[in-house]
Amino acid sequence: MSEASSTATSKPARRVLLAVSGGIAAYKAPELVRALVRQGQTVRCALTRNAARFVTPLVLQTVSGHAVRTDLFDAEQEGEIDHIALADWAELVVVAPATADLLAKLAHGIADELVSTLLLATRAPVLVAPAMNVHMWDHPATRDNVALLRARGVRFVGPEAGFLACGWEGEGRMAEPATIAAEAERLLGAPTLAGEVVVVTAGGTREPLDPVRVLANRSSGKMGFEVAAEAARRGAEVVLISGPSSLATPAGVRRVGIETALQMRDAVHAELARCSVFVAAAAVSDFRPAMPAKQKIKKEALGDDGGLVVELVRNPDILAEVGAGDRAAGARSEPKAGEVQQDGRTRRLIVVGFAAESEDVLAAARRKLERKRCDLIVANDVSRSDAGFDVDTNAVTLVWPGGRDEALPLLPKRAVAAQILDRVEQIRGAR
Ligand SMILES: Cc1cc2nc3c(=O)[nH]c(=O)nc-3n(C[C@H](O)[C@H](O)[C@H](O)COP(=O)(O)O)c2cc1C
Repeated sequence: MSEASSTATSKPARRVLLAVSGGIAAYKAPELVRALVRQGQTVRCALTRNAARFVTPLVLQTVSGHAVRTDLFDAEQEGEIDHIALADWAELVVVAPATADLLAKLAHGIADELVSTLLLATRAPVLVAPAMNVHMWDHPATRDNVALLRARGVRFVGPEAGFLACGWEGEGRMAEPATIAAEAERLLGAPTLAGEVVVVTAGGTREPLDPVRVLANRSSGKMGFEVAAEAARRGAEVVLISGPSSLATPAGVRRVGIETALQMRDAVHAELARCSVFVAAAAVSDFRPAMPAKQKIKKEALGDDGGLVVELVRNPDILAEVGAGDRAAGARSEPKAGEVQQDGRTRRLIVVGFAAESEDVLAAARRKLERKRCDLIVANDVSRSDAGFDVDTNAVTLVWPGGRDEALPLLPKRAVAAQILDRVEQIRGAR
């Protein structure tokens, strides 16, 4: 009986494609397959021609319980599962070990044999475990390739420092199979936020001027929707409080639609008693027209050239209210905002704010962090064309209490969402 079929788990099996390239650490690939199979995953393996010099397909076939692919042009292998079907089959691709050569191919879109072609064809997330000589790892070419891949959302695990098979000591050793398998499980949506109630605000608000016109902003909601989707993948109960948006509600997320800042405030307060993580990604209007007209304002009524002067009043600061524990009257007997009752204990709510600024981004974010008593502020420069409103990528700096800033590269918003929730888990772990 194969190892794969002897493992019984109650979790649904996830489809992992393990791509093995030709480094000495390929001898650990069978151990990685076993670790993934023990988690309950279905694992198929694909090897570069050079990988097959380090580990036999027969071993990988035995531990995975599936035929192993080694050659793009082998009619028999292609007939069993063609390479595009295999690339589409995968929910996650793990590359372990990843040679310097394969990283270069992946970074530059080269598809000259089976594994590099699979990596170009797949739409699944890719987790890479590099392994190589320390000087190969430190080479500017490899560094640039890694930076490019990270910027595209490829995830890395390791390499670690230590004695290398080549005799040198330094960074370049492949992460341990158990570590790679744990990271794979996390990326597959391991329930690392199970038990948490995550409330995310997203999109922009609309403040009526009259029954037809509104004061709005350019927020699309994409960032908040990605945070909600990622939190749901991690097993949290997720409430997404969103301004008007045509984006689809992510799987497993309860969506509450609002239009104005006051409605958003009410919706947030309605969820606060159970909420354990609050992520404020919405662009909430700071002001609203003091007296929205009951009927459409007619220009004729303003005279021939008459302009329109609109008085604006301040909207409540929802993030500051949540961070500071300033709750609506009548709810004071419940845990204060900024706190949550869990397992009979009072725990501080984790509060993540966003600062979309067009100048002095970090200074403004730091002021916001302190004033609104957040655990973390995600600062982004909305004057950039590749980051911020209505684009699929974002370049953010995470601003922490105590003066620490953490700049992330330009990433797809889905990857930014994952980074933010990694930090939420880190904050939770530190308490
Ligand atoms: C004994 C031996 C060990 C090697 N180990 C590594 C390694 O750990 N990492 C690496 O990037 N290349 C290593 N190489 C070089 C790769 O095998 C070589 O770059 C090859 O072209 C990689 O092919 P692939 O990326 O198609 O698998 C090693 C070569 C030999 C002969």
